[in-house]
Amino acid sequence: MKVLVIGGGAREHALCRSLSLDPDVSALYCAPGNAGIAEVAELRPVDALDGEAVAALATELGAGLVVVGPEAPLVAGVADAVRAAGIPVFGPSAEAAQLEGSKAFAKDVMAAAGVPTARSYVCTTPEEVDAALDAFGAPYVVKDDGLAAGKGVVVTEDLEAARAHALACDRVVIEEYLDGPEVSLFAITDGVTVVPLQPAQDFKRALDDDQGPNTGGMGAYSPLPWADPKLVDEVMELVLQPTVDELRRRGTPFSGLLYAGLAITGRGTRVIEFNARFGDPETQVVLARLRTPLAGVLLNAAKGTLADEPPLVWHEDAAVTVVIASHNYPDTPRTGDPIEGLAEVAAKDAPDAYVLHAGTRREGDAVVSAGGRVLSVTATGSDLAQAREKAYTAVGRIRLDGSQHRTDIAAKAAGLR
Ligand code: AMP
Ligand code: GLY
Repeated sequence: MKVLVIGGGAREHALCRSLSLDPDVSALYCAPGNAGIAEVAELRPVDALDGEAVAALATELGAGLVVVGPEAPLVAGVADAVRAAGIPVFGPSAEAAQLEGSKAFAKDVMAAAGVPTARSYVCTTPEEVDAALDAFGAPYVVKDDGLAAGKGVVVTEDLEAARAHALACDRVVIEEYLDGPEVSLFAITDGVTVVPLQPAQDFKRALDDDQGPNTGGMGAYSPLPWADPKLVDEVMELVLQPTVDELRRRGTPFSGLLYAGLAITGRGTRVIEFNARFGDPETQVVLARLRTPLAGVLLNAAKGTLADEPPLVWHEDAAVTVVIASHNYPDTPRTGDPIEGLAEVAAKDAPDAYVLHAGTRREGDAVVSAGGRVLSVTATGSDLAQAREKAYTAVGRIRLDGSQHRTDIAAKAAGLR
């Protein structure tokens, strides 16, 4: 099977890495990709937001499966265009992707499906904003209704900061604060059958000890030794299956990757948000642990035959990924800095540790930074402590001027603090 992956971050590098190891994949393409993905897939230029262009590329390549990585192409209808060209595609329709594209839509689906989530108000005027902030009290949670790459959410004790963020958005969701650890649980679905993956935890804040601004994610690990062993079954029953059923009932079935961002609160598990695609950087650790070849599972989801898929098989190993970000991220990052040490990691730390590229490009013989999150250094080990040690050893070999990374990824879960 020939597979085309759309996107160019570390999530897509992780997807391409797994697909490149799958014996059923005869040719692998990625558009637009990045400098790291170029080592496992053939890169093609494309405007990832242009459905017709993606469909034409898939047709030209003879792709038997297209995998759409990021949310923006999904919300723009890229999966619809590929599907209309008769090519199986892993990723939801534009309508179903509204589950991520609009927080208000997601809240409506959850209410209809009886899915536990934070109580919330959708506000469009300053009066509504003030009433909602007053109703919930501090800490305030204010979310831009539309797509904002994980940066449209402000959680603050400061009423003026909450109000200022709300007034800067056209439409906001203001909601109850959820206390408790966060879990990312992904499920693959064809719109009927739902297959959960292993849970992971993401580190959203820029700095150690969960300080600093929200980012797209600074690291992740899996499994979660502290979580209730029944968590996955519980979320399947309370969240994932009812949501998939509700979207099908509405005539907009969701096929692809349903990502539940959860808070484990004292009053039970609550959905913080849904995403309509694999999470980044959680995918890096979840796929590191998946033994089942990936292409067949994604193809079954794309074709509506997921019920035929045998149960997924997982490695016992733990996995940790540490994101190396550019100077100034999550504000406008500095780019164009050379990255050194990649060959050293490949020579000394492989196969247990490896570098997945996020924002990189090749400039002559050099690989240079080209985005906010630059690399996702990933490692596996017999437990989290070992995986973490290997990941940080590899991080230590990378040199990128002005770069930043968190030093506490998976530390608490590994029992180190
Ligand atoms: P979201 O884009 O909805 O995932 O929000 C980004 C981050 O903001 C989440 O990962 C949480 O850390 C935080 N957050 C979002 N909603 C809430 C909430 N209701 N209570 C507490 N923290 C929240
Ligand atoms: N890691 C958070 C996200 O992918 O949205």
